[in-house]
Amino acid sequence: MKIIKVKDSVEGGKKAFEIIKEEMATGNVKTLGLATGSTPETLYKELVASDLDFTNMNSVNLDEYVGLESTNDQSYHYFMKKHLFNEKPFNHNYLPDGTVTDGKKECERYDQIIAENPIDIQILGIGENGHIGFNEPGASFEGTTSEVELTESTIEANSRNFAKKEDVPTHAYSMGIKSILQAKKIILLAYGPKKAEAILNTIEGPMTEAVPASALQSHSDVIVIVDEAAAKDLK
Ligand code: F6R
Repeated sequence: MKIIKVKDSVEGGKKAFEIIKEEMATGNVKTLGLATGSTPETLYKELVASDLDFTNMNSVNLDEYVGLESTNDQSYHYFMKKHLFNEKPFNHNYLPDGTVTDGKKECERYDQIIAENPIDIQILGIGENGHIGFNEPGASFEGTTSEVELTESTIEANSRNFAKKEDVPTHAYSMGIKSILQAKKIILLAYGPKKAEAILNTIEGPMTEAVPASALQSHSDVIVIVDEAAAKDLK
């Protein structure tokens, strides 16, 4: 893994943007894998402010809450439109459909989408417990898209965006770790002291399903962009 230390999330967003821009200049980037959450917001600001053109590209998002309509302002559909897609049109934006109640069918549909749109660059944030996508500790490294039950710590962390904790959906559809690892290049972003332990375990700990992001150690092209607070425990 290549580690890039930055001052803060603004500088991190600029670094990630430069990498994406360089890769896009080769003409070989057709599909971006995207994440939601507060972490990629500074990157999306850079993409929106740029002159990059995504109209011939597709995007594939990591996850979506089960039970939320795309018009719900807490849905990941809504988040992506607000922070990127409304400003920067793509050929097509794929996200799991949280309104589908047949989880098996929706996961199969999404795996088919991932297979048809091989991800060139995958953007990742990381949970305080080391999750990537909604692959919580214990998730199989061989996992494809699945319906997952969110852990208490993830519900707690995500409740900051909801009126009350009880409003946080308990389940999500998430791309699996195996699919994430199939991306050609992965950029993991982490900012703030709450991510320090997860970053330490991801980079310097053993590769274990107890720390989902440690699976990234097996990938040959991972760039980790961390601010000083998130990197504080690294060697
Ligand atoms: C979101 C996602 C999650 C987040 C993680 C960190 O699509 O896949 O794994 O990246 O929960 O969230 P933030 O960035 O809000 O700290």
